[in-house]
Amino acid sequence: MADSAKYPVIDPGMSPRDVPAAVTGALTDFFDARSAMVADIDEEFSRVIGALSDFTLLGGKRVRPAFAWAGWLGAGGDRGMHADVEDAEAVFRSVCALEFIQACALIHDDIIDASDTRRGNPTVHKIFEARHRDNGWRGDAVHYGHSVAILAGDIALAWADDMFHGSGLTDAARNRAREPWWRMRTEVLGGQLLDITAEASGDSRVGVAEKVNRYKTAAYTIERPLHIGAAIAGAGDDIVDAYREFGMDIGIAFQLRDDQLGVFGDPEVTGKPAGDDLREGKRTVLVATALERLRVTDPDGAHHLDEKLGRVDGLDDVAELRDLIHASGADEQIELEIDRLTRRGLEALESAPIVEEQRERLADMGRRATARAW
Ligand code: IPE
Ligand code: IPE
Ligand code: MG
Ligand code: MG
Repeated sequence: MADSAKYPVIDPGMSPRDVPAAVTGALTDFFDARSAMVADIDEEFSRVIGALSDFTLLGGKRVRPAFAWAGWLGAGGDRGMHADVEDAEAVFRSVCALEFIQACALIHDDIIDASDTRRGNPTVHKIFEARHRDNGWRGDAVHYGHSVAILAGDIALAWADDMFHGSGLTDAARNRAREPWWRMRTEVLGGQLLDITAEASGDSRVGVAEKVNRYKTAAYTIERPLHIGAAIAGAGDDIVDAYREFGMDIGIAFQLRDDQLGVFGDPEVTGKPAGDDLREGKRTVLVATALERLRVTDPDGAHHLDEKLGRVDGLDDVAELRDLIHASGADEQIELEIDRLTRRGLEALESAPIVEEQRERLADMGRRATARAW
């Protein structure tokens, strides 16, 4: 068990501020329980699991478990309002499994996006590329790094299911949560596929970028975690529908904030390099909006932005594109959109039949998620 002095006690009354540390405690327990099995296979495997453990335990805002846990509480799960009360620690463990989905998504995303830094540290593929190089091994170091990180992400995805199904939830609760759990896994992968295809084809339609945000982020970050929490609590459609409306709007706004940070953010705060999205040539809603606006006000600027995306050479190029986007007014428009989505998302919660004390907690989480004040 995780050192009980170090991690908060899991209890429905635990402060929202304690949730991230409690998530780390539950994940630490899971890694500890797997370590002997991993070590039995080989030391080299333990090294890779060590990198996965560092990645999972040493960073992350824990947004997804926090929403799923609050979703369960909001649906009166701890009071047995809609179904038999589940063991609170089991519920907590089951929602912590979402951090393994996140680990898989991010480790693979960083290969896909050729990102060198995540959560302020080298990405998993970069760590193992360096190991290959440092040891003077045969073959291509970059390919080795990618291969190890693909496997590390696969393990995370498998362990997400192991942790969810081994959480101690009753079969009845697991059966209720099965469908949103399935949907979430498929939606995020579909979103990622649409994202890279828009990037490769240069499709910069705002509507496409919005669809990408819905599936690659909103679904697995807020909408389905809340849905899973509600399902564990046995809630009906009235709560599930309100959670999903809230989760979709807040989740899309969360990604719009990520897109703003991807261009204008401080690497010290984001843990990702400056202008990463411009270097990658990501077709975000921000970029799509900038292109749309520049085509009217500054066609040469629009052409330049379109041509340079994904082909920047150094920080001067990054700064030039950033200035062009700012001059288009797209960042201001996105701020207004984040505001609109946040307000609409919060409205969906207002009339939902959820536990009164949890309504403000969820609203506060929604506001913090879209402001990145988390
Ligand atoms: C990053 O998610 C990927 C997106 C969907 C934008 P988070 O911003 O929740 O990342 P961590 O888990 O806190 O590192
Ligand atoms: C976020 O992808 C969504 C997933 C990882 C599933 P992005 O590529 O937009 O996010 P960052 O900026 O790398 O965190
Ligand atoms: Mg990506
Ligand atoms: Mg990325």
